[in-house]
Amino acid sequence: MGGWLASDVALITGGGSGIGRAVALRFLDEGARVAVLDRDAAQLQEVVEAAGNLGERMLPLTGDVRSPDDLHRAVEATVERFGSLDVLVPNAGIWDHHRSLTGLSGKEMSAAFDEIFDVNVKGYALTVEAAWRELVRSQGNIVMTLSDASFHPDGGGALHTAGAHACLGLLRQFAHELAPRVRVNGVAVGGMRTGLHEAGVEPEDFTGPYVLLASRTNSATVTGAVIPADGGIAQRGSRTPAGGGAL
Ligand SMILES: NC(=O)c1ccc[n+]([C@@H]2O[C@H](COP(=O)([O-])OP(=O)(O)OC[C@H]3O[C@@H](n4cnc5c(N)ncnc54)[C@H](O)[C@@H]3O)[C@@H](O)[C@H]2O)c1
Repeated sequence: MGGWLASDVALITGGGSGIGRAVALRFLDEGARVAVLDRDAAQLQEVVEAAGNLGERMLPLTGDVRSPDDLHRAVEATVERFGSLDVLVPNAGIWDHHRSLTGLSGKEMSAAFDEIFDVNVKGYALTVEAAWRELVRSQGNIVMTLSDASFHPDGGGALHTAGAHACLGLLRQFAHELAPRVRVNGVAVGGMRTGLHEAGVEPEDFTGPYVLLASRTNSATVTGAVIPADGGIAQRGSRTPAGGGAL
């Protein structure tokens, strides 16, 4: 089997929908064997069916990225089935649906903060914690889904923006701590049509940079890097020129 990821084994969190699903199917096309973890078992089954014959090289795993036990079980199951873990894609996430500072009470903000940071930030940290030993063993790599919100305001509300910035911090620290054995990079995606969002671009359009960064041959010296795949948001702004017009 040819492809840029032939002989590699990947584990993708949030692989049941959106960008995680699209990356899983693209990695299969590139020759990889792919484990997908999601809390939604029905969505995982749909992805395996969408893969057709290539579904034989998929391992669906139900779990929650807030649970260290679920994540350790997922890594163990991946290695037991496929023999190694070469590429980790921390990706599972939720959105704050643009809830602004002025639209939240203190109690609502407190609850929303915990929910967003638990999944989007702690979930990424725990995913890497569960996998780093196998990645050191395989001299593998991590490709995180980051966001335009990792760099700019207005990709969501304050909680989403803060969480996305925090994930950039995780990427940089993990790239430092795991060098030179494990490369750690990210793809900062912009708005796309997924379970979280209704923008016009399809998730498949974002998968190329994941393949490039995951590829040992084509990105051997790249670590701590983020490819912006934001459709030009950095140049034109996220959504609105200013946020305080209604105050
Ligand atoms: N959609 C966009 O426009 C956009 C833009 C920038 C960044 N992102 C990021 O892309 C990533 C994927 O989002 P998406 O747009 O594909 O959303 P999505 O809702 O289509 O997919 C996210 C998947 O994560 C799973 N998930 C959520 N919480 C989980 C948990 N606790 N444990 C296990 N699985 C869980 C969901 O079941 C779902 O299948 C997120 O990190 C998101 O912040 C998305």
